[in-house]
Parts: sequence; structure tokens; C-alpha cells
Amino acid sequence: MQLPIVGSDTFGMPPHTKLRSRSQSSRPDAGRGHEPAVTEMSGAHAGDDSTQAPDRTTAERERSWTPPAPRTSEPILVVDDDPDVRAFVVSILADAGHDVCAVGSAYEARRVLARDPIALLLSEVSMPGETGLDLLRFVTHEHPATATLLISARDDPGIAQAAIDFGACGYLTKPVNRSAILIGVLNALRQRAGRAREQAARTDLECTVDLRTLALSQALGRLEEATRHGRVMQAEMIHRWAQSAEFREPGIGGHLERVSRYCGLMADKLGLHAQSLELASVLHDVGKVAIPDRIVLKRGPLTVDERLAIQTHAEIGHQMLNGSSSNILGLAAVIARTHHEKFDGGGYPHGLAGSDIPLEGRIAAVADVFDALTNDRVYRRAWSVQSAMKWMTRERDKHFDPRVLDALVSSLDEIMTVTSSPDNTHLTWH
Ligand SMILES: [Fe+2]
Ligand SMILES: [Fe+2]
Repeated sequence: MQLPIVGSDTFGMPPHTKLRSRSQSSRPDAGRGHEPAVTEMSGAHAGDDSTQAPDRTTAERERSWTPPAPRTSEPILVVDDDPDVRAFVVSILADAGHDVCAVGSAYEARRVLARDPIALLLSEVSMPGETGLDLLRFVTHEHPATATLLISARDDPGIAQAAIDFGACGYLTKPVNRSAILIGVLNALRQRAGRAREQAARTDLECTVDLRTLALSQALGRLEEATRHGRVMQAEMIHRWAQSAEFREPGIGGHLERVSRYCGLMADKLGLHAQSLELASVLHDVGKVAIPDRIVLKRGPLTVDERLAIQTHAEIGHQMLNGSSSNILGLAAVIARTHHEKFDGGGYPHGLAGSDIPLEGRIAAVADVFDALTNDRVYRRAWSVQSAMKWMTRERDKHFDPRVLDALVSSLDEIMTVTSSPDNTHLTWH
């Protein structure tokens, strides 16, 4: 990668010595396979292998080992206001196979960073104007993908700690030799690569979580739709059963639907789930299917045995509905068994009293009797709502739970205004 020089032509070097790639150098080790790009004044002299000019023996010994340059498509940016140090560092990095560019100030570094991706910023701390620490803070915040490494002539633990706290990968103290620079750079680039891998793994994980969340959301949506569809089907089947009962016992279909609506209204007043109770109560007389036609359809007073026989519909209905995985059918089983119990314990099939009778059963009892009184029977004409309520009020605390009876009273306006169903048009007040 060949980056243009930024502001490095102010150090008094002859023009022809600037912008010289190390691959074009006449050094003996030039052209050894890896030919890095160097975008900086070639101000370092051969053999000048330390900021403190170590002897050639040391330099040669250091040159015998070169850590491999990590693969990166972005260059290292060297920032130092001292052109000699800058050229020295550039020379070492280029010889080691790194792509390098260099500038003489933090201001110029910002311009490079704004224009090109940089793998590593290697900056002197003490520079005129903006310091290396300021530049480090800026890079950490604005270019988090760029690793940072500081060099300073001051062996100050406070500055070094501040550099690390600001996000630097390392802190080198002058005099610094070739090995220290290369190892520092290598470590910084490895930290950068590690951070990039962690970020990629985090991104992959977030992506996976997003995909799984979406899949779960879609599955829940399908489940909710299936559940909604199941509820609709269940409600339809229950209401169709109520309609089919009409073929055997004329008038029973209307009775079942009206009792269902009254239960829903009272449940709402009592703070129960009205829709569930409304649907479940449709099935309160389902046990009648087991009672012989001659009893169910008899147009006259029942004998004692016939009355006992028809009373079994409560327990039979419970047996028919109990044990279902459906909450609605489970509730219907409770209502079927208890809708003929009385609050004072005088009802059937078990003579339960008070709160021993499930509230749903007490509600269905009120709705069932109210509908029976306000509709024609083979042995009597329908009572007015007023007459029915007068009789039912006398049965307060006896047949009926007073709290449920109050719920019926408070629902009468809604019961009287329910005119959409032809079954309700028969209701009269007087
Ligand atoms: Fe019944
Ligand atoms: Fe009934």
C-alpha cells in the first residue's frame, strides 16, 4: 500500500531523498522477497539502528532476528516530530516487512487517519502542539479499529499508565532499539487482530441471536395463530352442538345460548373471564343426551323416578366433559356438575352449599333459573322479568348466592337491550 507523504518535506532533506521505497533501496537486504512500501523521508542512515545510535555489533545482532509482520492490508503510521527518530523507526519497520507511512505532528496524523485506514499508530508522546496522549485519545474514540503504541523519552509510569488507560497497546521508553520496536509493534498488531476477532465473534453471535429471536418470534406467531384458530374452532363446535340439540329438544338451543350470554354478563360484573364462562356454560345441559326421550320430551309433570332420572344429567355431563386438556371443557365440566346446586345446600347432585359450590356453578344456576322462568314451558307460560326477579329475590341466600344475584340485577339493562338475538325478543318486563 502506497500512501502519500504528509507534511514530511520540512526537514531539510534533498528532494530526491524523499518518498523512497525501501524496495528501491540499494541496501544489501533489499529485494529479499517482501518489498514493503515506505512513505516517509528516508532520513535514517544505514547502521543507525537505535534512537541512541547503538554500536554496529549490537545492530547486526538484532538484525539477525526479525519477528514476522502480521498480515494486514493497512499501514503503520509513525508520528514523531524528530525527523531522525521518525526515519529510524520507519526504516526498522519497513525492513521487517511492514507497510509504513510517517508524519511529523498529531495534526498531520489526523489528516491521514481521516483519509486512510491505519492498522497501527506509533506515536511519540512529547510533540509541539497536540501531544501523543491527546492523539491517542482521539484515535481510541474516533478510530477504534486502529491500534496504538506510544514512545517517549520520559520513563514516567504515570504517563505509561495513562496511555494504557486511554487504550494504548503498549508504551516504549527511549532509548529504544530495533527489537523493542518490532516486538512492541508485533504485540500491538496481535492485540488489534485479537480485538477484531472478538468483534467478529460478537457480531456473529449478535447475528445468530437476532436470527434465533426472529425464528422464535415467527414460531410464537404461528403458535398464537394456531391457538387462535383452535379457539375459534372450539367455540364453533360448541355452538354447533347447541344448535344440533335443538333437533331433539325444540327450544333447548335458544335456552343454551341465552344462559351462555347471561353467564357472560354476570361473569363480567364479578370480575371473571367472561368469554370463557360464556363459552363453557353453553354445555351445562350436555348430560341430557343420556336421558331417554320419553322423559326429556314429556309434556306433563314428571314422576319422582323421572325427576331423579333427569337429575342425573348434571353428573353425566361432568363425566362427559371432565379430563379434557381444554380449559374451556374443564370449566364446562364444573358447570355441568354444579349448576343445579343451591346456595343453602338443598340442590343436587351433591348438596353442596355456599362457597363449596364453584362460583361458575353458582352463576350458571342463576342464569339457568332466570331463563327458565322467563320462557314458556309446557306446563306454564313465561314469567315477566319483574315477576321472575321478585321470585328469585325471595330465593336470595337459599337457592342463589346473593352476590351472583346482585350481578344479575346489575346486568338486567344489558339483558333487556340484547335484541340482536331473536331468542331474546320474548323478554317482557310486566
Ligand atoms: Fe340442567
Ligand atoms: Fe339448563
